[in-house]
Amino acid sequence: MSITAQRTEPVAPPPSCTPASSCITLQENTLLLLDRAGQLVHAGDFLGGFRLLGTPLSTLWTEARGSGRAADMQRWCHDHPLHALVQQDPYTHRATTKPRGYAGDAVMMDFIYTGTPPDGTTDLGRGVFSATTRVSMGLSVLYRRQLLKSLIDDTVVNHEAGRILSVASGHARELEGSLVASPFFRGEVVALDQDPLSCDEVARVHAGRPVQVVGHGVRDLLGGPLAAGLGSFDLVYSAGLYDYLPDTLARRLTARLLQMLRPGGRLLIANFVPGGSGRGYMELFMDWTLVLRNEAAMRALSLAAGAAQVNTFQDPHRNVVYAELLREAAT
Ligand SMILES: C[S@@+](CC[C@H](N)C(=O)[O-])C[C@H]1O[C@@H](n2cnc3c(N)ncnc32)[C@H](O)[C@@H]1O
Repeated sequence: MSITAQRTEPVAPPPSCTPASSCITLQENTLLLLDRAGQLVHAGDFLGGFRLLGTPLSTLWTEARGSGRAADMQRWCHDHPLHALVQQDPYTHRATTKPRGYAGDAVMMDFIYTGTPPDGTTDLGRGVFSATTRVSMGLSVLYRRQLLKSLIDDTVVNHEAGRILSVASGHARELEGSLVASPFFRGEVVALDQDPLSCDEVARVHAGRPVQVVGHGVRDLLGGPLAAGLGSFDLVYSAGLYDYLPDTLARRLTARLLQMLRPGGRLLIANFVPGGSGRGYMELFMDWTLVLRNEAAMRALSLAAGAAQVNTFQDPHRNVVYAELLREAAT
């Protein structure tokens, strides 16, 4: 079927559907939504198309998962012409192909931060990119960087020689334009990431500044010489990591990061939520599945890690939850 064709005939239910009538409804609704999104994309209304591929698609995906039809819905989406079409978008394509072994690497984050597609992107790919890097999780990632920058600036002005640790720093773009680059800053930033290419980029951008780059995985923080040698910090944060960590490792890491806080220090961890608007597109079109946590889960994780004081909050786009863990000031 052409992507622009009007779908009028009911489609046959897949064998796993019972009762068949409700299954046809889900399949029909999914295919009608994909057809309509495809029409809008072909007409140049990229944002309109991706509004449909946001909350409406995620709602159908929730219904499919909740009724045992996840595999069916994955197949409907994969077989739809829209699936191949959106691969012209470098953001979608990079998540799908995972050149560094996982979706959501620092290059993908830069796609969102810059809003600029690489050379060679088709016109249609540029249009899709303009939508995928802004709708749903894109705005949340931009908000997250601004929030981190504000916390960094707060640390710089409130501490004589503040020490800041970014865990899974990626390219640490939140440092750029922050007060870390100003003469006010007398402290040190430590940027830790397992990806050597990301570490190289941070070292290049911040050459000559008090930014120490540590090329290690977070498991190395849990014990051994690295754990002992990094010292303590006024601000520790981690964005874009907990979404990949199972509960046990997340709890152990959080406990360790809490120990690394100076008295009065602050730890901020971020996580995408289960009900985020971009979940359907990410999982069905980008093969990008995250470990999702809501506010209650982040609070429970923080308390299990030994936090005495925890604040949780969601971003304005309702895609990311934050847990702020505070260490008591010295008396
Ligand atoms: C989504 S990016 C986030 C980068 C940056 N924090 C930001 O907000 O733009 C995830 C980063 O986590 C890093 N990462 C993933 N697993 C890690 C691990 N086990 N130890 C250290 N870094 C890790 C990746 O290399 C990547 O740079």
